Amino acid sequence: MARTMTIAVIGGDGIGPEVIAEAVKVLRAAADDTAVQTTSYDLGAERYARTGEILPGSVLAELAEHDAVLLGAVGDPKVPSGILERGLVLRLRFEFDQYVHLRPIRLFPGVGSPLAAPWAAPIDILVVREGTEGAYIEAGGILRKGTPAEIAMQESINTAFGVGRVTRHAFGCAAARPRRKLTLVHKTNVLAHAGDLWRRTFEATATEFGGVTTDYCHVDAALMYLVTQPGLFDVIVTDNLFGDVLTALGAAIAGGIGLAASASINPERTRPSTFEPVHGSAPDIAGKQKADPTAAILSAAMLCDHLGMTSAAARIEQAVAEDLLVRQGQWAARSTAEVGDDIAERVSG
Ligand code: IPM
Ligand code: MN
Repeated sequence: MARTMTIAVIGGDGIGPEVIAEAVKVLRAAADDTAVQTTSYDLGAERYARTGEILPGSVLAELAEHDAVLLGAVGDPKVPSGILERGLVLRLRFEFDQYVHLRPIRLFPGVGSPLAAPWAAPIDILVVREGTEGAYIEAGGILRKGTPAEIAMQESINTAFGVGRVTRHAFGCAAARPRRKLTLVHKTNVLAHAGDLWRRTFEATATEFGGVTTDYCHVDAALMYLVTQPGLFDVIVTDNLFGDVLTALGAAIAGGIGLAASASINPERTRPSTFEPVHGSAPDIAGKQKADPTAAILSAAMLCDHLGMTSAAARIEQAVAEDLLVRQGQWAARSTAEVGDDIAERVSG
């Protein structure tokens, strides 16, 4: 074995452990001469219910020693909404400074879309969502709670540093793709302060990337164009909350949540990056081997890419593309593990 890759695996709740098992299976099949060493971490609703712990400092320190984190999904009806999202998913993004959140919106051949004519132009978009700022950092607070005079403040924080580094990264992504187009999505007509910073940063960075065509789109219009003219977009850079909303619609037009992968990246690799399917824990089908592991498997491909194993990443994507072509919407005929087996076999064979 030429090298070792250490992966912290957080299966989480519901279907999380099932889909992550398949992602690890495929990762191993693709890793060639790299040994995939996994450590499983028991985090999520069960642990919270049992011990009150969400992400203890000692566990965070252990996670930090790994090359990457593979996360299934967290959430269970037993736990109030928001606790695990903020305490685990978002905390990892902040603690590990994962400021580039990558979400491909790609409609693979053979996959259905609710769009009337998605074939009119290929849908192959990469959303670069800022991951550590914006409305997500819980700036603000509540005053006079529960009274008629209550004030709730939820501020969106945008720094020159934060906007600058994610914008630069997005230009780099666009420069490396065939179309070389980058669209800034924001709401500069209304969010005058943050919008101004994003626009100026975008324009200044554009001067360093002469080969990249630039465009701007308000977020409301961008959502409409995603449905009516998705071919307009190549790479999109946007803030944390707009990126969340945009990529939910993106998943819906490109085969659904069962195929949507994501990566929360620390590009400098000073701390691990996290790779997770966009979907949730789907407690209603948990343990039944009914979940589609494809989003988790595609997230594993992004993991390989991030760690420099580009040929492994390409082989996983190719195997998924082949599997999607033959399944023609019929994946449910196979169990979660059978889909994983089939994709792993295509990767190694
Ligand atoms: C997502 C989710 C998260 C987000 C939640 C769970 C914090 O919706 O990954 O899209 O808003 O980023
Ligand atoms: Mn979301």
